[in-house]
Amino acid sequence: MTQNVCQFTPDFSRALKHFQAQPKYAVSPLHNMQVNGHHILVKDETQRMGLGAFKALGGPYAIARYIADQWQQKTGETVTSERLQDADIKAFAAGITFVCASAGNHGLGVASGARDMGARARIFLASTVPESFGRRLESYGAEVVWAGDNYSQSVAAAVANADTTGATLLADGTWQGYTELPKLVMEGYTVIAEEIRMALAASGQWPSHVFLQAGVGGLACAMAYMIRHNWPVQPELIVVEPDAAECLQASHRAGQPTNVEGPDSNMGRLDCKEPSMVAWHTLEQCQVTYVTLTDKAAQAGADNMSAMGLPTTPSGAAGFTALQQQLASGLQAEGFLPLVIISEGQV
Ligand SMILES: Cc1ncc(COP(=O)(O)O)c(C=O)c1O
Repeated sequence: MTQNVCQFTPDFSRALKHFQAQPKYAVSPLHNMQVNGHHILVKDETQRMGLGAFKALGGPYAIARYIADQWQQKTGETVTSERLQDADIKAFAAGITFVCASAGNHGLGVASGARDMGARARIFLASTVPESFGRRLESYGAEVVWAGDNYSQSVAAAVANADTTGATLLADGTWQGYTELPKLVMEGYTVIAEEIRMALAASGQWPSHVFLQAGVGGLACAMAYMIRHNWPVQPELIVVEPDAAECLQASHRAGQPTNVEGPDSNMGRLDCKEPSMVAWHTLEQCQVTYVTLTDKAAQAGADNMSAMGLPTTPSGAAGFTALQQQLASGLQAEGFLPLVIISEGQV
């Protein structure tokens, strides 16, 4: 049973087509940079859809698909992304409230996606989330609820709230009995991999290594799936986690989804102690390796990337920090061409 519910087979063409119909959508930049004499490729998600992080591709997409599906169930009509903006569908969406917990960016995606579709959003934040996220969420019309001392507690509060109010839970993580909406969130992230694939097909410069920072594992899952299934030249894939929250690596070691304990990390958006079951399962099939980062290294990596012209955070720069650690080992083979994703701008 777990095998089937964990299967991730995203309809990536549908996701790309959806975004290409959005006025706010633009392909994010893929920069060529130099680090210690090495050429690196840097996918820059710091401005994505005006939200400042790749998560702008997840929640809003899942919301659009969910409303389209609900509308179809009610009326029998199959709708396009453009049709979702019509008044009758927005009036229908006004009766839907999306609830989630967030370390920051997923909440912004859900809040802005709900606002764009005429729906409502209620976002649960742990006390570890910067207050600036709370203010930004409110500016998108979301109701903000501060709940718990850490991400896991805010997730529990969101789940309980959805259960008691009948609101629609839109988490980015998956667990036993809850997988379908987060699969749509991850389907949205596949757009990043498609954009990169198209750029690399034009340049012919395929990377030898791709570094993927992970919280619950949604981004890493979507990227790894897309790379393994659709890229003609296969790189090594390295999943990067805080040493305080290495839940995917622990799951890999244990052969099953495994929670971890640890102190709070300065990589706040990666500080998830519970892996996404679907992400873990998919990563197991994608031949990835795992590394962890200390907070100190993560801060230095963020400072370096910011000094190189892309202001970001320890979470946003984590893949780059892991690359820097690999460069420091001095063991690069001929043809070493790493790709990193700067997953958020400065918070
Ligand atoms: C900036 C940033 N990078 C990486 C991640 C990790 O994504 P995931 O939780 O899907 O693994 C997040 C998650 O919130 C994030 O906000």
